[in-house]
Amino acid sequence: MKRIGMLTSGGDCQALNAAMRGVVKSLINSEEEVEIYGFLNGYKGLIYGDFKMLTGRDFAGILTVGGTILGSSRTPFKTIKDPDENGLDKVEAMKQNYYKLRLDCLVILGGNGTHKTANLLREEGLNVITLPKTIDNDLYGTDMTFGFQSAVDIATECIDCIHTTAASHSRVFIVEVMGHKVGYLTLNAGMAGGADIILIPEIPYDIDKVVEAIKQREERGSRFTIIAVAEGAISKEDAKLSKKEYAKKLEKMPHPSVSYEVAAAIQERTGQEVRVTVPGHTQRGGSPCPYDRVFASRLGAEAGKLILEGEYGFMVGYRNREIVKVPLEDVAGKLKMLDPKATIIQEAKMLGISFGD
Ligand code: F6P
Repeated sequence: MKRIGMLTSGGDCQALNAAMRGVVKSLINSEEEVEIYGFLNGYKGLIYGDFKMLTGRDFAGILTVGGTILGSSRTPFKTIKDPDENGLDKVEAMKQNYYKLRLDCLVILGGNGTHKTANLLREEGLNVITLPKTIDNDLYGTDMTFGFQSAVDIATECIDCIHTTAASHSRVFIVEVMGHKVGYLTLNAGMAGGADIILIPEIPYDIDKVVEAIKQREERGSRFTIIAVAEGAISKEDAKLSKKEYAKKLEKMPHPSVSYEVAAAIQERTGQEVRVTVPGHTQRGGSPCPYDRVFASRLGAEAGKLILEGEYGFMVGYRNREIVKVPLEDVAGKLKMLDPKATIIQEAKMLGISFGD
């Protein structure tokens, strides 16, 4: 008999349900008897003992369903060791609930923050297996996270839609793409959507170079320019600031996000009409794309295998086209960023895409 606790933490994404279904299906199709405890709303459910017992039926019909049947929340790692407002020791509470239910293992689905807490629980002696989710694809130790490809599809569709209106009006259009502090999503959606300029955090931009690229397009007879801007894009000037100084600057920024700042600067320098589109959380919504359905199901099945073999303390990741188990201590606390020298960046530049550098 295996008693499994499961939770989804952090920002949701597509294929969380597909991944959990993969875990559960692989377990119930084995010889082993299983009991599944679903903790609700991320680590909160584990802290406060808020869970429901689930059966295989709860996981039927959810392969294509976005979001998470368990609910999610952000429980910042920064404050996980601080007592809650009633003085409760959150880490101790999670351990107690784990032991009370006599769990063999926790299956935790999440991104960067989630992995820090998962690794802490491992250090505290709990059996943990994690699955890599996030539309940002910024999780260390895996080449790919589920949710990413689905988000690329949505952001690309947004850029596709902008194309026709941009062409009709001879305007500059900015599409702001999610991705937190990394540019994977923006780069991929930007290239897929045929963006002319792509601004990502890993390559700080010079606004004069951005303007130059727009003017060059005009000179060549192009009626419009489409710019994909990562929500974490940063100017060369700002990249020189310390984290603290930059945070202070952002607080005082008159614009809601970097895209609007870039838009204002372009408008001022070129006199061109600039419009900003922010698809925002739509990028995390809806049904997972077929790639993510397959990918998350595979990761889930491999997690099931680890549980059956009693191998704990790993994230099930993907490296060099193979599903691999990665020790949690190698994942937690590290960010996977795009290498500005990566061949994909060189190729994008060869296609004429400007990174404003
Ligand atoms: O990590 C996923 C993500 O969607 C990021 O791309 C984005 O910066 C962040 O979450 C938004 O967080 P929230 O949903 O809490 O606003």
